[in-house]
Amino acid sequence: MGKVTVGAAVIGGAAVCAAAAFIVHHRMQNANPSHKAADILKEFEEKCATPISKLKQIADAMTVEMHAGLASEGGSKLKMLITYVDNLPTGDEQGVYYALDLGGTNFRVLRVQLSGNSTIEYKEFAEASIPPQLMVGTPEALFDYIAAELAKFIADESEKFHLSPGRQRELGFTFSFPVLQLSIDSGTLIRWTKGFSIDALVGKDVVAELTKAMDRQGVDMRVSALVNDTVGTLAGGKYDNKDVAVAVIMGTGSNAAYVERAQAIPKWHGPHPKSGEMVINMEWGNFRSSHLPITEYDNTLDADSLNPGEQIFEKMIAGMYLGEILRRVLLRMADEAGLFGDTIPPKLKTKFALRYLRFSNYRTHIMSAMHHDTSPDLKVVGEKLKDILEIRDTPLSTRKIVVSACNIIATRGARLAAAGILGILKKTGRESIRDSEIPDTVIAMDGGLYENYTIYRNCLENTLNELVGEKFAEHIKLIHSNDGSGIGAALLAACNSQYI
Ligand code: BGC
Repeated sequence: MGKVTVGAAVIGGAAVCAAAAFIVHHRMQNANPSHKAADILKEFEEKCATPISKLKQIADAMTVEMHAGLASEGGSKLKMLITYVDNLPTGDEQGVYYALDLGGTNFRVLRVQLSGNSTIEYKEFAEASIPPQLMVGTPEALFDYIAAELAKFIADESEKFHLSPGRQRELGFTFSFPVLQLSIDSGTLIRWTKGFSIDALVGKDVVAELTKAMDRQGVDMRVSALVNDTVGTLAGGKYDNKDVAVAVIMGTGSNAAYVERAQAIPKWHGPHPKSGEMVINMEWGNFRSSHLPITEYDNTLDADSLNPGEQIFEKMIAGMYLGEILRRVLLRMADEAGLFGDTIPPKLKTKFALRYLRFSNYRTHIMSAMHHDTSPDLKVVGEKLKDILEIRDTPLSTRKIVVSACNIIATRGARLAAAGILGILKKTGRESIRDSEIPDTVIAMDGGLYENYTIYRNCLENTLNELVGEKFAEHIKLIHSNDGSGIGAALLAACNSQYI
């Protein structure tokens, strides 16, 4: 009993000190919350600065790493994966093909009917979200779920798609994670990214696992091509436009693929493809360089992530992480500057609280929604702070600080992505050719961030123009390759059909 009383007295004393310190601390903050928050913002902006000179250094570092990754397996943080895609679709492909697109929080099943002459006669798709528990569960649970959706999709299809007896349906599998391919239709998972973490699948052939699940679900289908989403986007883009030479995904995650000369891939020991070319999946999300403007918020985000030390570039530029950087900046402002009052709003402490808002299959990128708010009183910002973080009645000055933080984060991300693209243009010599010979280069872009975050997209495009200069800017075009990765996978399934 005595002991308890003493303990309580000690705790009571400590609590009084803490409470006194708390009051003093917060009085100081409240003296001028937006001043202090503005200081934090200014410091953050300085650390995130991406002047053109820095972006050029980053592009050069990207080029150096590309060379190193092509020279030997494990030669660089950039994996520069050989995709076994040495021929992109020509437009002559014909028939009905399927694609399965897995890589983010949603997955899609597609059916396309190709009629030659670069024409997609018909396309249909179904989309479903991946229940979060399946992203960190077992390979069987994930693949059974996917195969069951595929089974439903086929069961519902019209008779005109029923194949002649003895003919098997063929599928392009877009699996948007780093995979070491052994052939066009097989490959082992190197590691997970983007919040997936199913250890038992690492090192396994993902096509074999999908095939087993399809067998279990009674789906008779052959996986004819295993492709990354960047590779699918490249194939889909090339089908529409012969000048497409690079594909970039800016979505939940980020990555790029491009057409490389087979001669320029020292680590490739197989027979040289007839085309003399090979598509390389860069896995640029894992790029890192001492030139990157990394802040304390990036470091803690990385340390707390499912894949610490990996995907550093991705964590600075991709949709999954932008809102999380914002949350961390606001948390510091709440803590040190009392930006949201005397206490830290509890919801602001929840990791990834500012990622997406979901309504069935429809998602809103919260940071993008706040950043695009043009209303005089920043109504959308106020609503999001209230609805998501339960912070009510924020003054306009606070909302403005939130928008400024969004702007710093998006600007840095978009400019770094542009520097990454410049790195590819440099590696392929498309940015240094003499006047008369400048080829047109089309970059097929896809991903929700690129598609929906207009400020980000404009900043990326403007920065790229600035980086390459007026003369080259005329010859470099970014196009939105909508649905490119799924269609591209179906096209690659057609190119690698067992029946040709
Ligand atoms: C993955 C890539 C993928 C990219 C875009 C990254 O996290 O590692 O394979 O292409 O996201 O989906």
